[in-house]
Amino acid sequence: MKGFKVVIVGGGSSHTPGILQSLVENLHRFPLQKLVLYDIDPDRLELVDTLCASLVAKLDPACTYFTTTDPEKAYTDIDFAFAQIRQGGLKMREQDEKISLEFGVVGQETCGPGGMAYGLRSIPGVFGVIDDVRKYSPEAWIINYSNPAAIVAEATRRKYNNYKILNICDMPVAIMLSFAKMLNLKKYNDLDPVYFGLNHFGWWTHLYDKSGVDRMPELKEKILQFGLAASHDKHHSDPSWRHTWENFKEILTDFPEFLPNTYLQYYLYAKESAEDMDIHYTRANMVMDGREKDMYDQVRLLRESDGAHQVNLNLFNAFGDFIVDVACSIAYNNADRYLVIVENRGAIPELPYDAMVEVPCYLRKWGPEPVVIGKIPQFQLGMIQQQLASEKLIVDAYFENSYQKALEALTMNKTVPSAKVARKILDKMIQANKGYWPELH
Ligand code: NAD
Ligand code: G6P
Ligand code: MN
Repeated sequence: MKGFKVVIVGGGSSHTPGILQSLVENLHRFPLQKLVLYDIDPDRLELVDTLCASLVAKLDPACTYFTTTDPEKAYTDIDFAFAQIRQGGLKMREQDEKISLEFGVVGQETCGPGGMAYGLRSIPGVFGVIDDVRKYSPEAWIINYSNPAAIVAEATRRKYNNYKILNICDMPVAIMLSFAKMLNLKKYNDLDPVYFGLNHFGWWTHLYDKSGVDRMPELKEKILQFGLAASHDKHHSDPSWRHTWENFKEILTDFPEFLPNTYLQYYLYAKESAEDMDIHYTRANMVMDGREKDMYDQVRLLRESDGAHQVNLNLFNAFGDFIVDVACSIAYNNADRYLVIVENRGAIPELPYDAMVEVPCYLRKWGPEPVVIGKIPQFQLGMIQQQLASEKLIVDAYFENSYQKALEALTMNKTVPSAKVARKILDKMIQANKGYWPELH
């Protein structure tokens, strides 16, 4: 049988059903010979396995499918590893968010001190995955969603030169789906983007439709008048995401030159964002009470009804569709154009050659080929340089076990008002992350 062999790392994630749904929908162009769900937590694997039974039933009967907690079984003889792990789980995400907020700073999964705390946890976890994959399937492609993607990408660049490793993010895709709908187009890839920046930190400068017309001027007018269309992506339609979608118009009103990534809200309005957040109920709590609980509820209903309960998985999910689109382009050397995280190599000439930037790339069998962006305006350049320095410093802190570099990383970040605050947050995070972080001296 012909087809690809794929392992989903972090198979117990509540995002796995979405990936499975996209894989099943794309079997005609991305056939599967083997599909493995791997996780360190057997209970979560069992949960997802139960939840996804109806999807798994749609695989070709000749396709091998299993779940496992054994890395050797998971990674032997595979073509693609789709990674989406969360070191420390949502409990540690809650700590990241709440410790930051305690000192009046944005409490966020990937931005500011929360993102850096998560980075120091995530780097060794992702390295472990890569080492295991390389041990059993040295030539497999690793497509990584595990956050904080900007920091993880810088770390994997330093350790592996990103050989057959691609770090990706679904936020631009989810936003582009709203753009497409506002322009009466169907799919996010009905628009070819020109975009520059870092992960969770960038701007669109042009959006070309398939006839080659730049639709951005028209789109900007519409957004300034009506706001960004509600998300059409299942994940980002969740009520707690509504605020983010609504803030889009505000960012564009203040800075009308380009269309912003939604994550810029946490940097441009750091003070207001922190004030809006509730230290007693952060995004981690919402996720635990939302899609986490939903996953358990659905499985309970399935078990109580002996499998008769209908799980509604038929919703668009950018997360699943994007990773399958990316894998397809690499597998067939299609050179499709997508926004991914890649070494700059001159794409944005004013940034370092080795900065990990997010720009459009043509995805080939041998890797991503970045598009030249050229000069960017002073405002965006300044913001990017500051954020990039912060991200590079936290990766330095990891490799050098350096407290000083970690302090500099936090101090450098636009979300943090002073070095004194940076030190207080850092010290508390060191305590909270014992056993996860490297020792910092
Ligand atoms: P989750 O905690 O629900 O799921 C993560 C799973 O990974 C858990 O089942 C856990 O047991 C497992 N896991 C942890 N460490 C592991 C390891 N070393 N090996 C194998 N499995 C491991 O988290 P989630 O909300 O589903 O998110 C998963 C990851 O995907 C996070 O890093 C999140 O930030 C990221 N994510 C990234 C994007 C993006 O745009 N890049 C989008 C969505 C989610
Ligand atoms: C977007 C981002 C991801 C991030 C996720 C958080 O999809 O691109 O990088 O992990 O949002 O969503 P959550 O619902 O977990 O807050
Ligand atoms: Mn992301």
